[in-house]
Amino acid sequence: MTILGPGDIVGLVNSTHATDLFVAVVSEFDIFTRLADREATTARQLADLLEIDERAADVTLTYLAALGLVERLPDGAVRVTQAAGQYLTAGAEIDLRHYTRMSSDRPGSRAAVEVLRTGQPAAWDVDEGDDWLNRMSQNDFAETFTAGMNARGTYLSPALADVLRGSVTANRILDVGGSSGIYACSLVSALPGTSAAVLDLPSVVDTSRASIAARGLSDRVDVIAGDMFTELPRGFDVHLYSNVWHDWDPANITKLAKASFAALPPGGVLVDHDMHLNDTKSGPLREAEFSVWMMMATVGKCYSTPELADILTPVGFEDVHLRPTTAGYSVVIARKPA
Ligand SMILES: C[S@@+](CC[C@H](N)C(=O)[O-])C[C@H]1O[C@@H](n2cnc3c(N)ncnc32)[C@H](O)[C@@H]1O
Repeated sequence: MTILGPGDIVGLVNSTHATDLFVAVVSEFDIFTRLADREATTARQLADLLEIDERAADVTLTYLAALGLVERLPDGAVRVTQAAGQYLTAGAEIDLRHYTRMSSDRPGSRAAVEVLRTGQPAAWDVDEGDDWLNRMSQNDFAETFTAGMNARGTYLSPALADVLRGSVTANRILDVGGSSGIYACSLVSALPGTSAAVLDLPSVVDTSRASIAARGLSDRVDVIAGDMFTELPRGFDVHLYSNVWHDWDPANITKLAKASFAALPPGGVLVDHDMHLNDTKSGPLREAEFSVWMMMATVGKCYSTPELADILTPVGFEDVHLRPTTAGYSVVIARKPA
């Protein structure tokens, strides 16, 4: 891959976990040999067959589909492709399972095996046992993490603002899990007459305030320290969740969607900005790789628009639709009925 822009560098970093997962499913589970004779396999069936977690099975199948090693059938099940059969199954003349196994004892591959088996997030780094969410309560970790979010937001937020300017009427925007405030700042800068508030954890908000002040926008972007899983504040007509829902499972996303529905006024808009899978969950590769990292580090993953519509529609939202922004990112927009 040639690096042509910031999204390519972020994509490269995101892909490291996915390669570890590939090594794990080939070396530890011999996945292609075990799927080779089957006409069709769902994520649930894969979970039973390999004795792994169903979320992990689902994320694995999307990644392998994006690699072209399994193909999606019309009903969403998969079957092994010719390439996987030729190079990654027992009895193949060119049997690259042997080559793959050379990397199977790397820490990342061992961690992937553990996440596949347990479904629980791996430790964020090898020296500290805690996962991402626990580390976020520590100020020094939160500061480093927020700097990373801010850097990525520097190129993603203008594209988000461009798309929202053309599709959403906003007065006051609540940026839930808003980190440094980079997205809130970009939005108020691009949308005249708007103001915003960033809601994030107490460990994060000092960095948010400093960052918003450095952008000269403290008069238009407030900061709220809190927990998004308790009640959300009222008085905002747009709720933005940027790179937040991929950290959570459908049950927790449903809680957030319900909290937004309760707090938004009639006609209010919910915006989920993230890397989304395509509707058939067969890629794209960059998004599928990011989903693997989210599976490894959190209880979440990347979602497709139909998966999110299945959460948002029963809550009461309507007009659930996707718009691309940049570098593999997109928004899923939903409206509370007027
Ligand atoms: C992956 S980051 C995304 C940050 C930013 N929105 C972006 O797009 O870069 C997830 C954010 O959610 C915040 N978060 C996690 N749990 C939260 C909670 N219970 N209440 C509020 N914010 C939370 C984290 O502190 C973090 O800033």
